[in-house]
Amino acid sequence: MTPARIVVVGTGYVGLTTGACLASLGHNVTCVDVDRAKVSRLSAGRVDILEPGLADLVHRGLATGRLRFVVGARDAVRDAQAVFLCVPTPMGAGGSADLRAVEVVTAEIGDVLPAGCALVTKSTVPVGTSKRIQAMVGRTDVPVVSNPEFLREGTAVADFLGPDRIVVGSDDLAAARWVGELYAELDAPVVVADAASAELVKYAANCYLALKLSYVNSIAELCERLGADIALVTEGMGYDRRIGRTFLKPGPGWGGSCLPKDTSALVKVAESVNYDFTMLTSAINENIAQRDRIVAKIAGAVGGTLAGARIGVLGLAFKAGTNDLRDSPALAVSSVLCALGAELIAYDPAVDGEIAGMTVVDDAYQVAKDADAVVVLTEWAEFKHLDWAAMAELMDGIDVVDTRNLLDPRVIVDAGLSWQGVGRPRAAARIKVS
Ligand code: UDX
Repeated sequence: MTPARIVVVGTGYVGLTTGACLASLGHNVTCVDVDRAKVSRLSAGRVDILEPGLADLVHRGLATGRLRFVVGARDAVRDAQAVFLCVPTPMGAGGSADLRAVEVVTAEIGDVLPAGCALVTKSTVPVGTSKRIQAMVGRTDVPVVSNPEFLREGTAVADFLGPDRIVVGSDDLAAARWVGELYAELDAPVVVADAASAELVKYAANCYLALKLSYVNSIAELCERLGADIALVTEGMGYDRRIGRTFLKPGPGWGGSCLPKDTSALVKVAESVNYDFTMLTSAINENIAQRDRIVAKIAGAVGGTLAGARIGVLGLAFKAGTNDLRDSPALAVSSVLCALGAELIAYDPAVDGEIAGMTVVDDAYQVAKDADAVVVLTEWAEFKHLDWAAMAELMDGIDVVDTRNLLDPRVIVDAGLSWQGVGRPRAAARIKVS
């Protein structure tokens, strides 16, 4: 298709990835933000977000002139063919999505959008938001299109350029199809839908992933009680193509910027139409129970009481490959440990600065020093390659609690330590370290 003039409002994870990737597909993209300092940094090619490939795409976009950054949406949209709303929709009061940012931008640009310009929502918004935006804009010559993103942090660029599918939905199907064509370069199926269905796809997909993980964490708990091994159980399940092999790893619970807020939001959406979504509320409750089981496991490793115990924490980010701490299960577990009186020394390769309730250090070995137990909370590959014999030397205790089943238990046992994961048989230390 011929390159389109596109404006992306918001330069967070989703907006910046969307803008840089659309520019790499040949479109002329203007990214808008209200943060003047951020716009200057991005215009100079400085990308603060840790996202593989993103800085390169931004540099290339700036160099070719297909990507630029400005302050002020009202001026930027005057000759746009499509405006993508990529502003935050955080969890608001009571668990519903907070749409204030979407509303503010819509009010700001509604009357200056050129006729025929598609107003596209990428932000995750509750079902019915397209209709609301359409009513707010109050114009029949500006179609509103929902085009949800399915970007995982840490692989956002790869996900954008190699998507499983593109979903576009609008009550103006021609406009939806046209937005789908913006991605024509990509080899992906395009699902064209009405607005409500497209909006629901995003929630339905993320909540399904959360259900899947809560289910796996429950099966892992059963494994512990029944003497089975979750690694083998999920291997056996995953070969069934109806189930699939991914998203089957147990852990300290699911977190991040999407799954927790989207599950709460869908429960609220369901309530608004008098549907009690008990399956989803169970998954949310199970996620809290998983955190508490992990805390109990750590307490058990230090003799039953956390008060005064020194715990070395490996990993703070909500998953490996990102420095994002939003709704991080590692922080959720840590804050309970802290509330129960544990002293926490933490290291994460992508996180520095101060975090309440713990001492953050810049080296994994400092975490082990005098620790009664070491706990792996984020699955950074580098933790596998630590010198565990040296870690053992530094520790006071002998217990390693691996909430991601990341480490090789044999390596830990050979270092004179005890290993326990989630849903797997324990591996006890052969030699007691004094
Ligand atoms: C998610 C969705 O995957 C993405 O499609 C959506 O658009 C945004 O939300 P993201 O938040 O980046 O992406 O994280 P994801 O990789 O999906 O992981 C979510 C949580 O599940 C993390 O806490 C992760 O550690 C956990 N997880 C994931 C597991 O515990 N086990 C797994 O097997 C996979």
